[in-house]
Amino acid sequence: MFEALKAQPQDKILQLIQMFKDDPRTDKVDLGVGVYKDATGLTPVMRAVKAAEKKIWDTQDSKTYTALTGEPGYNSAMRQLILDGVVAGDRLSSIATPGGTGAVRLGIDLAKMANPGATVWVSKPTWGNHISIIKFVGLPVAEYRYFHAASGEVDFAAVLEDLAQVKAGDVVLLHGCCHNPTGANLTPDQWKQVIALLQAKSAFPMVDLAYQGFGDGLDQDAEATRLIATSFPEVLIAASCSKNFGVYRDRAGILISISKDAEQAKITQGNLSYLNRQTYSFPPDHGIRAVMTVLEDAELEADWKTELEETRNGMLALRAQLADALRKETNSDRFDFVGRHRGMFSLLGLTEAQVTRLREEFGIYMVSDSRINIAGLNARTVPVLARSVAAVL
Ligand code: LMR
Repeated sequence: MFEALKAQPQDKILQLIQMFKDDPRTDKVDLGVGVYKDATGLTPVMRAVKAAEKKIWDTQDSKTYTALTGEPGYNSAMRQLILDGVVAGDRLSSIATPGGTGAVRLGIDLAKMANPGATVWVSKPTWGNHISIIKFVGLPVAEYRYFHAASGEVDFAAVLEDLAQVKAGDVVLLHGCCHNPTGANLTPDQWKQVIALLQAKSAFPMVDLAYQGFGDGLDQDAEATRLIATSFPEVLIAASCSKNFGVYRDRAGILISISKDAEQAKITQGNLSYLNRQTYSFPPDHGIRAVMTVLEDAELEADWKTELEETRNGMLALRAQLADALRKETNSDRFDFVGRHRGMFSLLGLTEAQVTRLREEFGIYMVSDSRINIAGLNARTVPVLARSVAAVL
């Protein structure tokens, strides 16, 4: 039977993790996968998460099943963190999922169940796994141009031009903040224009919110999502706790749906729970419980926010340093956009050949489209990167 299987294309981000591991050079620099690293190169367990895990260890006396939706307290705390009450609670349905990827996958599954004729629109470029998942689920993918490589900014005229082709009921996947891979984000005014266009087209918005708190702040990064939530009768939101709680391997995410009214929300909830049941039954609990414990404890929540802010400020400082170093090394303002971008990533706009040279000659690893993980840098490696980029231009 297995002879019928074809080799699968390798995910370029995951492939890079292995190549980096296999490289014996001691001065190599990993700017590949989107994982936060502190100045010493460690991806720390956040203080509040560690304290929550201790609390769980001390008090948990059973590991029996909880709910098909995942712990209800997690669902309500996450709805609050993301939506802050802007939509009436009785219009919301949600399930805990294994990471943001689990939420994206089940969100696309739900979209297909509701409208098998939908096309899913993604930004060009987008996170590679978006396209892979949509194709795997079996919906057609269409791309809207998003990025102007020469300026490093959003190509907003192209966004509007391409989204004008969307048909009623098509799903439009939007990055709520911290666009992956470009780092270039819509301004509040541009968000309003996109929303007005999608309303006019009767499109169905699905938001991927994987980096809340990594851009400008927890509330600022949720602003676009909240605006979308209040502008459409129906919305899907796939969110991740991997980055903002640092619980990558524990797989904590959530899929939230907004329905037109309370009656529909109950049916949607039943469908979400059904999707969990068909896919893996109960979602994993550990990371979800740690997140819930942090959000339900005022002291832990305050400490988490403090550490998240330190993390964000660290990335912003690295952005400023890198933009500065690149300006000096290249004697131009070509890369100033790095300082304006937000989140973990910036797309440098280098060719694949230049990216290969950076890896082979300088031991600097980035995704082949020239996406760098800002959080993979530190004060020592910023000048190394800037010098090396200038050398391959
Ligand atoms: C990334 O884009 O690097 C992250 O979302 C990690 C992943 O799974 O690809």
